[in-house]
Amino acid sequence: MQKTSDVITGKPVISATGLFTPADSISNEELVESFNRYVELFNSRNAEAIASGEIEALQPSSVEFIEKASGIKARHVMTKQPVLDPEIMAPRWEERPNEELSILAEIGVKACRDALERAGRDVKDVDAVLCAASNMQRPYPAMAVEIQDALGIDGFGFDMNVACSSATFGIQTATDYIRAGNAKSVLVVSPEITSGHLNWRDRDSHFIFGDVATAVLVEDEAVAPAQHWDILGTKLKTVFSNNIRNNFGFLNRAHPETADMPDKLFVQEGRKVFKEVVPMVAQMIIDEATRLEIDPQGLRRLWLHQANAGMNRLIAHRVLGHEANADESPTVLDTYGNTSSAGSIIAFHLNSEDLQVGDTGLICSFGAGYSAGTVFVRKVG
Ligand code: COA
Repeated sequence: MQKTSDVITGKPVISATGLFTPADSISNEELVESFNRYVELFNSRNAEAIASGEIEALQPSSVEFIEKASGIKARHVMTKQPVLDPEIMAPRWEERPNEELSILAEIGVKACRDALERAGRDVKDVDAVLCAASNMQRPYPAMAVEIQDALGIDGFGFDMNVACSSATFGIQTATDYIRAGNAKSVLVVSPEITSGHLNWRDRDSHFIFGDVATAVLVEDEAVAPAQHWDILGTKLKTVFSNNIRNNFGFLNRAHPETADMPDKLFVQEGRKVFKEVVPMVAQMIIDEATRLEIDPQGLRRLWLHQANAGMNRLIAHRVLGHEANADESPTVLDTYGNTSSAGSIIAFHLNSEDLQVGDTGLICSFGAGYSAGTVFVRKVG
């Protein structure tokens, strides 16, 4: 067990990361079969209106398109059967009483426990929990405070939502607490039950997201385990865009007639996102590397946001100056899909142990907002 000390350096490091992966997984084949059954049902139930031109017939989805357009082959979900049921196509579970741990907190706690165990960290020595995620279960009490309570942490917690960039924004917030001496051990937890915001009936996006939870333990170097990752620098950026949007919220009550419209779930202009975000993020990485006096072409590994394999290929190429291989820019899209803010953390968690002491890499997120965050790290230990 790591002993905490009163000596604080103000130098932030990543002590460990944690991961919770739901047991259920849906392959593209299963997903497309279910989607296409829904399309058949819809078209036959609305045959007359389609024939009269009143509504348009729905088009089937395809496994080949999904894999080619996104690189996604499967995704984990909290509940598989209802998502695949063409009459439901949404997650379903029993509503829990307030006395019971809520489902989002439950998976967040699991990811946190994994990170704490890996760091050998006693919860008594953790000061704060930041729940940084796109898909909060409720507005209050904060999910972070419930997770803090379930873990038995004496300190404070709050929620923050910067969509797919929530985790990197959380890491920067945690590093600022460490730098200021306001905390020496901070959990940044990203429970992403994306199956709730995804419109499983929308052909353009039904394949994109998956459920997961990650945790990052950001600590003062003075209390961190011998093997850790120095945080060399963090940089955040936001630029307003409507190209990825979700209009769900309390104020939908002001317009009850539109409460069930598809824009109350995830919607995007995928092509525009692709075109606008790739150059913005690649430039941001290069500028920040330059500021930190790091040669971007010398980066040992990029743990990029996991939204689309093509975007990652282009960003990695611009940063490294050549086509990146799977070792330089690993993907988890094939088995996890897009897990919003958790994606780059899963990539880091599953693909960082083999790096050598002294190796420098980059955790990078980008998504709705637009929002983007970079966290340059170097292995120590
Ligand atoms: N099955 C089969 N064909 C499909 C389909 C599906 N499920 N969905 C769309 N298509 C078809 C369209 O009808 C269109 O056909 P057309 O050219 O004959 O009109 C064609 O495929 C291209 O559609 P488009 O939406 O332009 O595909 P794309 O190649 O741009 O890929 C995304 C779509 C969404 C996967 C891609 O744009 C993307 O990932 N962008 C970035 C998204 C992102 O990172 N978002 C962040 C979220 S946090």
